[in-house]
Amino acid sequence: MIVLLTLAATAIAIIFRHALLRWRYRARARSLGCQPIRYYPHWDPVFGTDVLFGTIINMLLKRKPPQNVFWDEPPYGKTYATLNQGRDWITTVEPENIEAIFGKAVSLTGDDGIKGSRTEEVWGNAPLRSVMEPFCGKGFITTDGKEWQHYRNLLKPSFVKANVSEMSWFKAAASDFVANLPKNNQTVDMSQRLDQFFLNVSLNFLLGIRKEQESTAMDQLAVEEFLQAFHEAEMGAGMRVFFGRLGPLLPRKKWMQVCEKVHSFVDGRVRQAMQSQQPYPPSAKPIKSLLHNLTTQTSDVQEIRSQVIHGIMASQDTTSVLLSNTIFLLSRHAWAWDHLRSEIKGIPPEYWTFEALLNFKPVRNILFETLRLYPVFRILGRQALQDTVIPLGGGKSGTHPVFVARGSSVAANIFPLHRNKHIFGEDVGSFRPARWEAIRPKRWEFLPFGGGQRQCVGKDKALAEASYMLVLLASQLTAIQSRDDRDWTPQVKLTVRNANGSLVALG
Ligand code: HEM
Repeated sequence: MIVLLTLAATAIAIIFRHALLRWRYRARARSLGCQPIRYYPHWDPVFGTDVLFGTIINMLLKRKPPQNVFWDEPPYGKTYATLNQGRDWITTVEPENIEAIFGKAVSLTGDDGIKGSRTEEVWGNAPLRSVMEPFCGKGFITTDGKEWQHYRNLLKPSFVKANVSEMSWFKAAASDFVANLPKNNQTVDMSQRLDQFFLNVSLNFLLGIRKEQESTAMDQLAVEEFLQAFHEAEMGAGMRVFFGRLGPLLPRKKWMQVCEKVHSFVDGRVRQAMQSQQPYPPSAKPIKSLLHNLTTQTSDVQEIRSQVIHGIMASQDTTSVLLSNTIFLLSRHAWAWDHLRSEIKGIPPEYWTFEALLNFKPVRNILFETLRLYPVFRILGRQALQDTVIPLGGGKSGTHPVFVARGSSVAANIFPLHRNKHIFGEDVGSFRPARWEAIRPKRWEFLPFGGGQRQCVGKDKALAEASYMLVLLASQLTAIQSRDDRDWTPQVKLTVRNANGSLVALG
């Protein structure tokens, strides 16, 4: 009985506090000239547990994406709020709002008493993501402001053009990859093969690991075990971000064990790299790994380990997902494949430098069109670090500013953003790479690589590698035919991919 009474009293206290906060927010919003935002029609309008549990059930049953995921403009308007554990989670497709969270925060200094309007003081990731730190430590994903700047600076030497444009190892590995593809009309899942290939590319770029050069079977096994532990540890970290304030209720022991496995593997590699103390081997101008570049900047093993783990998290399943989607689309649009083949015909292999790859329009148009239709990241968000405002979404018309309380989040809804008919044309649902000859989306209207200070630092590397792979496939294969008549079906994790892979026959 006492337990029940305590529970009831706690629930009443929480609801009362919630109502009080909402009342305070409404007063604050009015003083800032804001109007109410439209809400997702929750069954639980206090904490939004219906969406939380709906998402969990969907994830467990591996069914469709959660009910608040939209590919076209949501029925609640361009900007609307969902409740996540009592806090507002606002999604928007308005470029002005997106600019306010990534580019330049709305300035609120003055009589309203809200200080500081620099974007990095207003919007951040750290409050949501710091729960991941037992796995990945501190780095550019989990920090904000000056701390973030420090970690981003550590990445710089690895991403300078001289380093990422050195593609000789990549080109040789890509040639092997294409040469080993079965070309006898059997069904191949290109998505699995590309995942494996780009995992090796990442391991080379980040840790200097070339799996084919790992000297013994034991070494290779250690890499496999590391990857397995990494996957589990990252899942645990993701669950903690997802569950937010309920995260501490999740079991911790198993998670810590896999985190330790990851740490001990990376630490071993860090010490090896530090002990070798040699300049990078001069043979064949290899790309300098992130690990190597970090050891020249700091001797703090833990700091290096964390940056390597962050690097793996940021780059995995990105270029491979883009290319599997591209192949999915090309296998269903034979005219686009034939056009690509005719455009590259007769171009000698030495033409394909880093710059040429990035500037070759027929390939660029195909990749941009794929990223428009199937962006690798579904939403890009930030949490409000202080009370602030976004310019649009308030009132019945959605044209008034909206108050965003500290602790609420705002996210750009990338799928509907990329399907805006006013920007991309009436046929937004069609694959038509040539549209990129005519359209010029503005900065906050096309965001496959994010925007503002924290936009993707691996963009050129990813696009050059994806372009090269596409050129190679088009020059060495005559046909790519789809072996799957199902629609592209989103599988939502950190990235979004086609749940059915990319099933094709190659000729
Ligand atoms: C098609 C491939 C890729 C796509 C679509 C992509 C997309 C993105 C996006 C949207 C962000 C911004 C996240 C945010 O604002 O919260 C980002 C950040 C980042 N990406 Fe990529 N990415 C790709 C490939 C890569 C690769 C290959 C690397 C590294 C080798 C990489 C490294 C990074 C890093 C380090 C950041 C974090 C920047 C920061 O927070 O300071 N990305 N990426």
